[in-house]
Amino acid sequence: MDRTEELTSRLNMTRMPRHVAIIMDGNGRWARERMKGRSEGHAEGVNSVHNITKYASDLGIGYLTLYAFSTENWNRPAPEVETLMYLIGWAIRKETPELVANNVHINLLGEIDRLPEEVRRDLEAGREATAHCTGLNLNLCLSYSSRWELTRAMRMIAEEAARGEISADMVNEETVSSHLSTAGIPDPDLLIRTGGEQRISNFLLWQIAYSELYFTPVLWPDFGHEAFLEALVDYQGRERRFGKTSDQVKEEKQN
Ligand code: FPP
Repeated sequence: MDRTEELTSRLNMTRMPRHVAIIMDGNGRWARERMKGRSEGHAEGVNSVHNITKYASDLGIGYLTLYAFSTENWNRPAPEVETLMYLIGWAIRKETPELVANNVHINLLGEIDRLPEEVRRDLEAGREATAHCTGLNLNLCLSYSSRWELTRAMRMIAEEAARGEISADMVNEETVSSHLSTAGIPDPDLLIRTGGEQRISNFLLWQIAYSELYFTPVLWPDFGHEAFLEALVDYQGRERRFGKTSDQVKEEKQN
């Protein structure tokens, strides 16, 4: 039995995370290790996006949220930003038929208006083509950052208050959640970061309050079936307490 088969046999299909979010890091280092340009690392990263989407869909995971381009990524050298934009548009055009065939629904999170017009068109076309799909929800975070999203939510709530539609004492957690780009999407159960860094980098700060965090040194272009299964098996070995005691959680499980 190889490692992938062994991990698959250990996976409990009744305890799959409903929502997996991923900070895809390490494309540049993958390229450098091979004396290639950073663009080639990103192009290889698109293959990993393809593969992980397929595995997540096959495993019946409900939501896969990918940090594809952060607000801070606009500060990268212009040629790298252009390459990433080109790759995102190209990938979505190329992948849409297979996404439809696999019943994958595309959702776009972030300041999409900041993206070049042709990329926006490709993304919108992908979203429309998959609008009827009821399988995996693939959330692509583009020009996204959590502080941008929270600031926007606070502005919207303040505007509603100024218009008299809501009063300050009515504002609760649900009010905040419903003004985020992830409104209607359950919080991530598992957040994976590839590439060895152990930080959150302005990603889903509100939504990951109780998520399990998994950091792996594997670089994103190398993150394949086996690495994904390792993360899922590790997740299933954890006890999620949501602030309760271990005894309380065990008791609840028995009832
Ligand atoms: C981080 O690697 C990766 C990114 C900033 C971009 C990730 C984007 C893709 C894989 C393409 C997205 C495509 C679609 C269709 C969603 P890095 O450049 O920070 O790597 P480094 O830390 O090794 O330099």
